[in-house]
Amino acid sequence: MTDTITIRRPDDWHVHLRDGAVLRGVAPHTARQFARAIVMPNLSPPMTDIAGVSAYRDRIMAALGADPAFTPLMTLYLTDGTDPDEVARGFAAGVFVAAKLYPAHATTGSAHGVTDVARIMPVLERMAQIGMPLLIHGEVTDSHVDIFDREAVFIERTLGRLIADLPELRVVFEHITTAEAADFVAGAGANVAATITPQHLHLNRNAMLVGGIRPHAYCLPVAKREHHRLALRKLATSGFARVFLGTDTAPHAQHLKEAACGCAGIFNAPFALESYATVFDEESALDRFEAFASLNGPAFYRMPVNTGTVTLVREPVKVPDVIDCNGMAVVPFHAGETLGWRLVD
Ligand code: NCD
Ligand code: ZN
Repeated sequence: MTDTITIRRPDDWHVHLRDGAVLRGVAPHTARQFARAIVMPNLSPPMTDIAGVSAYRDRIMAALGADPAFTPLMTLYLTDGTDPDEVARGFAAGVFVAAKLYPAHATTGSAHGVTDVARIMPVLERMAQIGMPLLIHGEVTDSHVDIFDREAVFIERTLGRLIADLPELRVVFEHITTAEAADFVAGAGANVAATITPQHLHLNRNAMLVGGIRPHAYCLPVAKREHHRLALRKLATSGFARVFLGTDTAPHAQHLKEAACGCAGIFNAPFALESYATVFDEESALDRFEAFASLNGPAFYRMPVNTGTVTLVREPVKVPDVIDCNGMAVVPFHAGETLGWRLVD
């Protein structure tokens, strides 16, 4: 049995770091585990231009006390009004590495998102030309579509056609949650990849609903039936090159989740590698963990892999019930559980 794994320093290809005091409380958890992270732009107001994104990047660096070992990779929030020239300028200048498509009202902080992909075709055409990745929250928002079907319907109605129309566009299908999405990505061409969160590898929808309603298991896209979880575990641990680590760590104050209308998002940054390593261990795939965590993402984003390594050891680690994020109490993923792997500092 393997008791120690050492892998090249990994990256997190999908994080929410928030802003202000909370940013200072949560960013160090990501920086401790990862060398780089793709930072989501769904702040209030959203990060829709070069000036806003570069100022946000500066705030992240300041929050980390200029930690030289961590690089935030910034993204632009697309709206119906996004200017293709602004996108191309910011990408060429290295201010952002990708743009994020939130269908309007799909999730937390998406009110200013895109109402119809047709409206941003000039932006997407430009991104295809310049090789800039499009990161997609893949759910329809049609109120007639059941929330558990929204990802599969998005593939049918929107994603399949978008990729057929713009085969050069480089797309990351973010935080996939269904067998349909896993099959879609596995069958798509070299320009289509996916991220998978730890929670969607650990939880099915029972985790939210059996024995009482459990708000800390609620995120978007929502966890699905068990056969979907098994399909995601199979893809993540298969060695397939176009799937990689993206935690979607999304901290919310404890009282805002434990509420009559609790908000969506799971704070998994503090024990992310421990959580993923547990899955790879359970699937007897520890030998494929490095590809998922540290190699496949840089290959897709056309970036060098990181220098240096991290080591995890097979030792019990107790996840606290609550973590203080600079004044905001947040319940982490796996709160109160004991995980079987520990990240060596
Ligand atoms: C995210 C958040 O809180 O910003 N929430 C979530 O449930 N994942 C938004 C998102 O990525 O959908
Ligand atoms: Zn997210």
